[in-house]
Amino acid sequence: MRVAVLCGGNSAEREVSLRSGEAVYRALQERGWEAVKIDVGPDIALRLSEVKPDVVFLALHGKGGEDGSIQGLLEVMGLPYTGPGILASALAMNKIATKRYLRSASLPTPDFITLDKEETHDEWLQRVKEFRPFPVVVKAPTQGSSLGMNIVRREEELLPALAEAFRYDPVVLVEEFIEGVEVTAAVLGNRKPVVLPLIEIVADKGVYDYEAKYTPGKSQHIIPPRLPEPWQEKVKELALATYRWLDCRGFSRIDFMVDHKGNPYILEVNTIPGLTEVSLFPDAARAAGISFGELVERLIYLALG
Ligand code: DAL
Ligand code: MG
Repeated sequence: MRVAVLCGGNSAEREVSLRSGEAVYRALQERGWEAVKIDVGPDIALRLSEVKPDVVFLALHGKGGEDGSIQGLLEVMGLPYTGPGILASALAMNKIATKRYLRSASLPTPDFITLDKEETHDEWLQRVKEFRPFPVVVKAPTQGSSLGMNIVRREEELLPALAEAFRYDPVVLVEEFIEGVEVTAAVLGNRKPVVLPLIEIVADKGVYDYEAKYTPGKSQHIIPPRLPEPWQEKVKELALATYRWLDCRGFSRIDFMVDHKGNPYILEVNTIPGLTEVSLFPDAARAAGISFGELVERLIYLALG
């Protein structure tokens, strides 16, 4: 069985994807699989026709790899691939679309407005002031790894945060800031998904941004989270409901904030969660007794199943 590991690409998360791809490739080699690692470029269809894999392991993150694009190509080529299909990928890659879709099922997500690049500075400011008092969270809706994300605590921080988010997207998200505990739920499976042990995320400087995510030692993964059991159960139930509602398969990681009263809020769904040595999903799997190599193999079997 030949596995093509797709990674790299040209999204802003390229470097993260190269790390995920390398980890997956190495694990497959160690376990005796015939694996080929491919850095994705415009010639990807040609490369896949040459390599002729039996299954494709997607270790891509961000635009072009996690948003349904490559999934569509692989469907056309008749190649099975790991992780969710086109619809779930496309919905989850845009946080505005995700939130609207979650709301349609009354799944809780922080309140939000959207701002358009075409509007004036005064209009942005007025819209945010009408929305709610600071702090708010500004996000570029189609990015991952916290790129284009900033917590805005004061009015003067708003324009720089918007400018950064508008570098990635013409319409950006302004979200209610939920004070509480950040928790992530790794979900694995097709028709009968399971939630792996929850992880509480603590970033050294308080914000789990790009640096905190990918610099060893800059954040801690606490398993199980320091939350009462019933609160954790609620998060797990919501994670499964979200996974099913978005029609995910294979795996996905769903990020939450739990406020001080125990109310969980869904922040986003990662349909190709990071698989680097400091990433959350492999840690959740380890806590469930599934080694990294076993996780990679399970994802392949789920792709073929
Ligand atoms: N977007 C990164 C890879 C993650 O969610 O882990
Ligand atoms: Mg993400």
